[in-house]
Amino acid sequence: YQIYATMHNPDPNRLPVIHEEWENVAREKLQDGPYYYIAGGAGGEKTMQANLQAFSNQRIIPRMLRNVDKRDLSVRLLGQKYPFPILQAPIGVQSIIHEEGEIGSAKASAEMGVPYIASSASSVPMEKIAEAMGDAPRWFQLYWSRDPEITASFLRRAEKTGYSAIVVTLDTPMMAWREHDLKNVYLPFLAGEGVGNYFTDPAFLAKLDQSPQEDPQSAIMHWTKIFGNTGLTWESIDFLREHTSLPIILKGILHPEDAKLAVEKGVDGIIVSNHGGRQVDGAIGALDVLPDIVAAVGDKTEILMDSGIRRGSDIMKAMALGAKAVLVGRPLMYGLAAAGQKGVKEVMQNMLADLDITMGLAGQSSVSNLEASLLRKME
Ligand code: FNR
Repeated sequence: YQIYATMHNPDPNRLPVIHEEWENVAREKLQDGPYYYIAGGAGGEKTMQANLQAFSNQRIIPRMLRNVDKRDLSVRLLGQKYPFPILQAPIGVQSIIHEEGEIGSAKASAEMGVPYIASSASSVPMEKIAEAMGDAPRWFQLYWSRDPEITASFLRRAEKTGYSAIVVTLDTPMMAWREHDLKNVYLPFLAGEGVGNYFTDPAFLAKLDQSPQEDPQSAIMHWTKIFGNTGLTWESIDFLREHTSLPIILKGILHPEDAKLAVEKGVDGIIVSNHGGRQVDGAIGALDVLPDIVAAVGDKTEILMDSGIRRGSDIMKAMALGAKAVLVGRPLMYGLAAAGQKGVKEVMQNMLADLDITMGLAGQSSVSNLEASLLRKME
């Protein structure tokens, strides 16, 4: 209502409200390389489209006369209470998006009480992000290196600097076929971006003949050799359990059988995700497979989801289908590109206000009590 009250004389410098406009501002501000690095997906971008289509296909059937005076958006995750059902998805190399980079987006999260998931591929080391966030909630996302000493070292550092869970991204044992990036010859890592955690890691530095400052090219070449690990199997999860006492959450689960294997391995949660359509082009939309995964393991582990969350109603749909909370990716990065920390906070606030209103209008008082019967899937 505050917004409507000022509508008589809209401020031309006001930040956007419409999701698509945030993306337009990002497009104006960024060169082709960074813009398509964020906005693009793998191959023909069929999965990126499928993510959005999956949300469109689910229609809400609102309920009436249910007293929605008080609406509760809070959730419990891994035994902790959070005010809102969203988390910032881990996103690497944010220095190419805005000069404030990860520090800006992490501070926006801290202001909101929204958990921040720091990427292994952050531009700045995880210690700097932790320092900027104070006591605010944060998790660490692990890209599982071919070099076990680096993996162990990352886990140690995260534990030491107040990250309260480890998100292990399984869908990226190597870089995907991303046509925009290949066309633009744009891989930010090759320009030394997104290596903040590696170039400050004792286990990484021990393998170099010269420091990254003295010989950046050799350091980057070494990074390309150790970044991913195509040799991992389900047995490898034991290594993580031996090296950290933090909760372990597996990101990138799409097959119900994999969800069952995750539960067998005793992990603390899973994130149903196709990496925002950036890995396997043609993979199923994340929301489309969520009900199958909830049916397979919903009572045995915590299920989060991402890939395609754009508006408040999307959060509601994912939660009605059984997600405990959702991760938001690109929308926050368009906010970062447009206005740094302020932009990220504004996008979060808008999305949550939209969620709150949509909940009330659909006759729902608590995000934790949403049920699948609230939705109908249109074919
Ligand atoms: C990502 N994502 C990602 N995931 C991860 O585990 N580690 C990472 O470093 C990155 N980096 C990254 C960069 C960029 C530019 C994007 C857009 C995405 C994937 C991310 O965490 C999340 O799964 C998706 O962004 C969710 O999809 P939406 O919300 O962007 O549709």
